[in-house]
Amino acid sequence: MKVILGTNFALYFKAHTYHWNVEGPNFAEYHGFLGTFYEAVFDQTDLIAEHIRALNSYAPTTLGRMSELSKITFNVAIPAPVVMMSELAADNDKFIMELRTGIAVADAADEPAVGNFLQDILDAHQKHGWMLKSFTR
Ligand SMILES: [Fe+2]
Repeated sequence: MKVILGTNFALYFKAHTYHWNVEGPNFAEYHGFLGTFYEAVFDQTDLIAEHIRALNSYAPTTLGRMSELSKITFNVAIPAPVVMMSELAADNDKFIMELRTGIAVADAADEPAVGNFLQDILDAHQKHGWMLKSFTR
């Protein structure tokens, strides 16, 4: 769950930085889509952290720890819009992999409420994946 939290937070942050920095003739489209995307991902952060608390563990308290837990990598350079979308699509796939692992772990631990919660996030990210990939075709 902590890897899912860290990866969720990093995916949110990366999408937000792309929302700020995207440029080009289709600026409004990219800026708007990325805004909707980062807000949806950010809204999950609180729910994931509260599930960690409900499982009697503590949520990370530093950005450094969040970053260690995350599976997302960052670049300093600002990529072209289509590269932003293909990167976010690949990051979204990484997040989906972590969600699938989390669902399997929840099933094995007989924690169906956690499994169902992660399944809802997985459904949302499969839809995000379709949209992100549609920008690059
Ligand atoms: Fe904004």
